[in-house]
Amino acid sequence: MDERLSELLDQILGASQFLNINQNPVVVSTSAAVKPDVAQALIQYSFLPEVIAELLCCGVVKMRAWSPVKDELLRNLGEELGSRSDGATHFTILKNCLRKEAGLDLDAGHTPAEATAVMIRNVRTWITDRTLHEAAGALYALEASATPELKVVGHIINLYATAALGKLLVSEKYDDDHASGIGPWTLDRFLAIHVVDFEKGHRDLLADALAEFVVQDRDRDLFCQGFRAVIEEMETWWTALGKRNAQNP
Ligand SMILES: [Fe+2]
Ligand SMILES: [Fe+2]
Repeated sequence: MDERLSELLDQILGASQFLNINQNPVVVSTSAAVKPDVAQALIQYSFLPEVIAELLCCGVVKMRAWSPVKDELLRNLGEELGSRSDGATHFTILKNCLRKEAGLDLDAGHTPAEATAVMIRNVRTWITDRTLHEAAGALYALEASATPELKVVGHIINLYATAALGKLLVSEKYDDDHASGIGPWTLDRFLAIHVVDFEKGHRDLLADALAEFVVQDRDRDLFCQGFRAVIEEMETWWTALGKRNAQNP
């Protein structure tokens, strides 16, 4: 992906409040009066990692004519399903860590809020029903936003844990030391390894694979439209989660 395009995409990410640790709507609505109800926002967020494998499957089908892109999406999907985590899906690891460390049970009959369902449906549609370039932009938006979003989520986990448990659960240090380790997974290691390894790979290798297909001005315009649309869907979703959080007693 050339410099002009990646600068434009970085600008879009940089202007998104939900990806900013101080401006994310759930962080803002929580910081006013720290309260354990931010758990609801974490539970709603978790629907995204829960459906990410399905969205990648949609991407694999959609991008089947762009071989290197399809192959990278398959590799990425394999990781999400456990190819580098002893067969445990990333969502299962996250779910188990949230239950063990934070006492949050994602299986306790939670349903997606309207805003969550709408976001997932609209993102899926951008992947399945639009041009190849728009779909590619939509898929790249998911991967390019994952790292800053996970850092925000790590911060929200700490806001929750401070209020509910009187302690921090995540170091918020995303480096090799925190990403490595043996034994049972922890939230800290799960988030750190995503930042330094999994999501970095998803973003960079997808960008490499896309380079030969996003060349003409028309390609870039469509790609950016798909990218921007998904980032806007996520901004709208997080804004709704912030409003719900502010309304909780
Ligand atoms: Fe993952
Ligand atoms: Fe990813």
